[in-house]
Amino acid sequence: MNLSTTIAGVTFPTCLMNAAGACCVTQEELEALGESHAGAIVTKSMTPQPREGNPGPRYVSFPGGSINSMGLPNLGYPAYAKLIPELRRFKKPVVASVAGLSPQDFIEAAKAIELAKPDLVEVNLSCPNIPGKPQIGYDMEASRQLLLELQDIFTIPMGVKLPPYFDPIHHEAMARVLEKVKVSFLSLINSVGNGLVVDPESETVVIKPKGGFGGMGGTIIKPVALANVRAFWKLFQGQMPIIGTGGVVTGTDVFEHLLCGASAVQIGTTLVDEGLTAFDRIEKELSEVLNKKGYASVEACRGKLKEL
Ligand code: SIN
Repeated sequence: MNLSTTIAGVTFPTCLMNAAGACCVTQEELEALGESHAGAIVTKSMTPQPREGNPGPRYVSFPGGSINSMGLPNLGYPAYAKLIPELRRFKKPVVASVAGLSPQDFIEAAKAIELAKPDLVEVNLSCPNIPGKPQIGYDMEASRQLLLELQDIFTIPMGVKLPPYFDPIHHEAMARVLEKVKVSFLSLINSVGNGLVVDPESETVVIKPKGGFGGMGGTIIKPVALANVRAFWKLFQGQMPIIGTGGVVTGTDVFEHLLCGASAVQIGTTLVDEGLTAFDRIEKELSEVLNKKGYASVEACRGKLKEL
């Protein structure tokens, strides 16, 4: 079964990769992704300074999903800029995720990462977990201004990781922004921000930062992720490569993302819970699903969702 995929001219050996944030902060974690069955190595979203992130507990999984408020713990872009050329020895695409607490942060990281030459760059406009810093992707004008500045820095294909949108008017407004900038792919979606999980036993929240509010991931967000993949697939008439993220636990979940229009998927909660062997299992399951359905490749079923 051909599970390879191509995004912005870059070929991935399989369409499965980690989501930025899942098992990808340290050199050891990134090398382990290189040695695993992952189709790419995606770095943690990087900021100029190394960050410890938010105080714990800051990640809790439960049946059906997870809540996190990590707060962008990362090594800082100078460390990733040094690591990226070394990661290329694994002969799979390296995707650098760039974030920041201000537009200047993004620009500074972008300049260094452009020189490190990852295969793709994913600009994270959607971290919900920095106290006092709203998700840029919900501010269309701020997103537009930032992306215009970044497009002049990158020669590497630049993608954007967006927050979930919940109304067509917001999908359309963001699509209008993206039409005016040189964006080569979309990663949809980041966690569903500012959910709240309650432990009725202890009568407490389950994570410490932001009074217990955090980004939701896993199966519970799959319908929101699929809807965003589908909405942007349609708005760009299938011409914008999309990486679907949200609720990928099984090969069937990947198939659903592909049907909605994704070219690849990223895996977060499942990787954190199950470890990197999840790639082997999901790859096998996806091959079985595609085989059973009579599709010879990822490309063959991409966007083929039928409406009633
Ligand atoms: C975090 O580090 O808080 C998660 C990153 C993200 O949601 O973009």
